[in-house]
Amino acid sequence: MIKKGIILAGGKGTRMSPLTKAVNKQLLPIYDKPLIFYPLSILMLANIRDILIIVNKGQLNQYKKILPDGKNLGIKITYIEQNKPKGLPDAFILGEKFIGKNNVAMILGDNFFYGQNLSTKLLNNTKLKKGAKVVLYKVQKPEAFGVAKIDAKSKITKIKEKPKKFFSDLAITGLYFFDNKVSSYAKKLRPSGRNELEIVDLLEIYRKKNILKADLIGRGGAWLDTGSIEDFYKTSAFVSAIENRQGLKIACLEEIAFNSGWINKKHINNAINFYGNCDYSKYLKKLIKNP
Ligand code: TTP
Repeated sequence: MIKKGIILAGGKGTRMSPLTKAVNKQLLPIYDKPLIFYPLSILMLANIRDILIIVNKGQLNQYKKILPDGKNLGIKITYIEQNKPKGLPDAFILGEKFIGKNNVAMILGDNFFYGQNLSTKLLNNTKLKKGAKVVLYKVQKPEAFGVAKIDAKSKITKIKEKPKKFFSDLAITGLYFFDNKVSSYAKKLRPSGRNELEIVDLLEIYRKKNILKADLIGRGGAWLDTGSIEDFYKTSAFVSAIENRQGLKIACLEEIAFNSGWINKKHINNAINFYGNCDYSKYLKKLIKNP
């Protein structure tokens, strides 16, 4: 079982400037909570409790105010600063020591996933022993994404970044599961034309070895973008619609930890004090009244 996870939460956030000039994108709100709560909730639902968050140099204090060390959630959070956005595979170079002899999951700090049976699917993916697995999602405009083609056994047979010519409509999302070789492969990569290490190049190493598999999120699930201001609002509207209809929150970290038995009522009460008088706290109060 994969027990370690990385959240890549740095980045320039160019498309969301000026909002991202002082505050990192992942700390901006998707409806009622910071964006980073959503990818963190995904790792927690995958039962991953040892988490490395990679942030931009100089922004560590912003993050620590809201996610200090994970103890309040019954998990362990460590941080590493990235000097500059060198590309997604840099996560495995910076995280080499953290990964150690283990396999690892990686999620991009700006990725939003939602859907029935998501936890079961996630847990299934953490069973990975050798090779790599990426989560794919059917999209209308594949030319805007990294794209993968799969065979009948969900093995990936072709990948390409932003293909001009159509060969598949399955986009590569920002959720990956890798075996222990990932850091050594990442170190072999050379920067691309845009001067970044590319995740498709890293995946290509696994594909060539015939050990790159896919997990598909079907039409009952959602993978939403949060890269642009427009996407941010659309995702916020999605979360608002679901939460207000059901009275259940998406990505309430304390709820996941409490239901998993990692924290108790005392921790929830501490969280209520920490957040203060807000809807999120009211939700937590209800949680410990009717568990
Ligand atoms: P991107 O969407 O590629 O970049 P960005 O978030 O900086 O936004 P923009 O394109 O508008 O400048 O990044 C995807 C995610 O990965 C995002 O959450 C930031 C993070 N990231 C890093 O933490 N380090 C990196 O080196 C890169 C490339 C991205």
